[in-house]
Amino acid sequence: MIEHDVLVIGGGLAGMSAALHARQAGADVAMMSKVYPTRSHSAAAQGGINAALGIADSWEVHAYETVKGSDFLGDQDAIEILCSEGIQDIFTLEHHGVIFDRDDEGRIHMRGFGGTDKSRTCHVGDMTGQTILHVMYEQLLRMDVKSYDEWFVTTLLMDDGACCGAVAMEIVSGKLEVFKAKSVILCTGGCGRVYEPSTNGLIVTGDGLALAYRVGALIMDMEMVQYHPTTLPANGFLITEGARGEGAYLLNADGDRFMQNERYGATTLLEKASRDIVSRAETIEIQEGRGVDGCVLLDCRHIKDRILEAFHQIYELAQDYANVDITQEPLPIRPGMHYIMGGIKTDVDGRCYRQNGDGVEALPGLYAAGEVACVSAHGANRLGGNSLLDCVAFGRRAGAHAAEYAKSINPPNVSDQAVEIEEQKIIDIFARSTDLRAPALRLEMGEIMHQYTGVFRDEAGLLEAQRQIREVRNRYNEISVHDKGRVFNTDLLAVLELDYMLDCAETIIVSALARRESRGAHTRTDYPERDDENWIKHVVVYQTPDGPKIDYLPVTITQWQPEARKY
Ligand code: FUM
Repeated sequence: MIEHDVLVIGGGLAGMSAALHARQAGADVAMMSKVYPTRSHSAAAQGGINAALGIADSWEVHAYETVKGSDFLGDQDAIEILCSEGIQDIFTLEHHGVIFDRDDEGRIHMRGFGGTDKSRTCHVGDMTGQTILHVMYEQLLRMDVKSYDEWFVTTLLMDDGACCGAVAMEIVSGKLEVFKAKSVILCTGGCGRVYEPSTNGLIVTGDGLALAYRVGALIMDMEMVQYHPTTLPANGFLITEGARGEGAYLLNADGDRFMQNERYGATTLLEKASRDIVSRAETIEIQEGRGVDGCVLLDCRHIKDRILEAFHQIYELAQDYANVDITQEPLPIRPGMHYIMGGIKTDVDGRCYRQNGDGVEALPGLYAAGEVACVSAHGANRLGGNSLLDCVAFGRRAGAHAAEYAKSINPPNVSDQAVEIEEQKIIDIFARSTDLRAPALRLEMGEIMHQYTGVFRDEAGLLEAQRQIREVRNRYNEISVHDKGRVFNTDLLAVLELDYMLDCAETIIVSALARRESRGAHTRTDYPERDDENWIKHVVVYQTPDGPKIDYLPVTITQWQPEARKY
């Protein structure tokens, strides 16, 4: 058995921030990741990280625009913290060594992004996430944080109602090990690959969401799935919003800048309206026959100099995967699954919650931060550039709180026997001998989710998705693996990941069925209006022996009342 005060599960930006701050608070911290930490999905974040550093900007304006972007579902206390404390987080990152791009006067350059007419997105070209991740990793090494690289968590452990560690498999050997910890922070990212296609890396399989769900944590706002307006049709790769933020246009097959059309409600910000609005507009253009082979066009020709200066990655992605030189011709793009606003319900210190009678209570010892969590700073629609900030700011707060909590409790009781139960699951998978493989079922699940729970949904489609996903769940138990060895068995990992993904798919569908209105990224064609009277509330789902159960929690409103949302 391995012991630490604080175990951080996930080595992306939220995990690194949590680990660093728990360490700074004096805890013995370990960070565990199923990949080498700098390969975490945060590395894919292209466009930047928001902070109101500009003279004509303020954290209050940033917060208001985040609330409006969230379609008034975000918890305003969390949003105020994100936008106010996040400013110092940017300076800290810079002091750690993140060399943000500069303007002509040597200040941090901020580009335009969606949902605002301000420029507040700090960036390093179009490789911001990767740069920050590497700098944070250096800090972890400097602080001697123990890093368990390429370990896969199979279950969380509980003692007397509190989370007290996890069982994990060392991927290189296949050996299972008990990790005892006084507090556990889940920072495993979202569940993007529950959808096909997705902008997310193949590793983004909802592990932490399912782990928390299985120990009774509340999972909140899972119906809020963000489709990013500009993804490549060939493979779902992201083409950063920064391009539109710096002036690129969206055109339909007739060459019209369709965001100028009044029906889309964004005649001021146009292509820089929030993502839910732009993705809906694109989908309507395509559905009504004004698309180009299932896409619309991103026109960057008039910002050629900026593309060559600050968008090297998307320039190359477009060249390599669409055979388009974006400085010379428009690029076919379409909306693609990008982010989940929902996640494990936390408070602003990262603490997770569970149902207790008619109310809720903190789930002792369990924390979450980053995309796996729902604090909820993004409500029904996240603003681009706010997710890296969320990871850094709420990772920091969760790390600090989890360290203090660990100091305050006695060591939990943990038995090595937990390994045997997990070992038996693997033996059972190895014992099966069928033709059914995990990748085929995973693709089927992803296509069902995209078809029925994408930009537009309705009850009939959601019920069909539920029926089909349950059928996939039944067949899951027939999957077998070719590789029955223990050393770096990715065949086995694919089976274990799919188990987690199916839990996530189910929570998305039941939450989307529950919310009978349209708000932010959740557009119900059978309930097309936003309904503030009945639906300014969070949908929560939790696991029971009879299946997922739905409940509701209030939205925290501090200073901004719901209003009509135009851009
Ligand atoms: O478009 C982008 O660069 C994505 C940024 C984000 O999701 O925050």
